[in-house]
Amino acid sequence: MSKILLTGATGYVGGTVLAQLLTSTTPSLSTLTIDVLVRDAAKATKLKSAYGDRINTIAWDGLDNTTFIEEIAANYDIIVNTGSGFVPEGAIAFVKGLARRVQQGLPAPWLFHISGCTNLADRPLTQPPRPMREWNDEKDADAILEQMKTLNDAEPYPQRSAEIGVLETADETGVHAISVNTPLIFGEGTGLFNQQALVIPLILMYVVQHGYGWKLNETANFDRVHVLDLADLFVLLVRAVLEREDRGVGYLPSGKKGVIFPTAGRVLIKDINQKCLDVAFEDGTLPRENTPKEKEIRLVPLEEIATKLTAGRSDVAERGWGGHKATTGVLATKLLGWKPLRLEEAWEKDFKDELVALKEDRRMITMANCIAHTE
Ligand SMILES: NC(=O)c1ccc[n+]([C@@H]2O[C@H](COP(=O)([O-])OP(=O)(O)OC[C@H]3O[C@@H](n4cnc5c(N)ncnc54)[C@H](OP(=O)(O)O)[C@@H]3O)[C@@H](O)[C@H]2O)c1
Repeated sequence: MSKILLTGATGYVGGTVLAQLLTSTTPSLSTLTIDVLVRDAAKATKLKSAYGDRINTIAWDGLDNTTFIEEIAANYDIIVNTGSGFVPEGAIAFVKGLARRVQQGLPAPWLFHISGCTNLADRPLTQPPRPMREWNDEKDADAILEQMKTLNDAEPYPQRSAEIGVLETADETGVHAISVNTPLIFGEGTGLFNQQALVIPLILMYVVQHGYGWKLNETANFDRVHVLDLADLFVLLVRAVLEREDRGVGYLPSGKKGVIFPTAGRVLIKDINQKCLDVAFEDGTLPRENTPKEKEIRLVPLEEIATKLTAGRSDVAERGWGGHKATTGVLATKLLGWKPLRLEEAWEKDFKDELVALKEDRRMITMANCIAHTE
């Protein structure tokens, strides 16, 4: 059996992380077999035929089956949990399964969990304003989880409950766990199934459909990271455990201090809309006959954006599209030598690439799937 289990192989992030783990030529990874949990049999077959004996696919019925998750997790040294970050019980069950290894006296296992920066966002449209704050994963290591707990006590949010639950359960059980608290991701993924980001494709889709851009306020922001740079970080985390004599224990942050921000730049939502308008006007996609002849960004109601861009979830929409969530990542670079390579140039290019992809019908919008929305 492999040492590593990965979730999310059929998704945008997890598919890219898997591809990058498998194409790495570094000795600790180049012969490694990775076990992947896959819900759909046809997708499992496709993964197996693409990656051969570098992976084993294991059928499961998903993040709600905590009994299965605990059983399976107990077999691994490292779990890369890059599927949906929105199912707390499932995420915590991975930690509980790993804890069995601690009880057996085996080397303490690691969980690398994906989460999102909306966990720290305010809801400035429906709740009293909070002072804007920038969170730094090194300086604020003691405060980040506390802030999330305060926010969650007032208003539980599944992605945040998952992140808190994973990190606290890890500390309670002796498991090591890091949450990669991720901002806006851009760029095309390299997995076999969903290769598309969310934020730029969704905004571009709206802009092209309506002929104008939108904003919920002037100040909503996102940090950003290219999906390949994000996947590099997961590769470096896995390598640290495999290659370091201490297996990263005592070196990497873990548990309540285990939040890492993979950030490589900051943008405003209204500026993303502006860039979408710029590329659409530049190539003649806009204006159309019944759309504004000049570039326009309109103030629109939250409910409209929730319905059109966030599977009807107005809380997720408000945090993501209206909220403030400034996160600065220091630890990944300092501890692992992570160096994001796709910066301003890649960002600018992505708007053009996304317009081409949209026009070529290569964009199926999967927000509902990303947030594990079942209705
Ligand atoms: N995309 C972003 O911009 C972004 C930004 C910040 C944070 N994140 C975090 O990253 C996570 C993954 O995002 P993504 O863009 O890779 O999403 P995605 O492309 O929609 O992929 C989601 C993955 O999770 C799996 N999944 C969904 N619901 C599941 C369930 N109930 N049980 C088991 N597996 C389930 C899917 O498997 P199936 O193929 O079986 O459905 C798929 O492999 C998000 O949920 C979020 O927490 C994403």
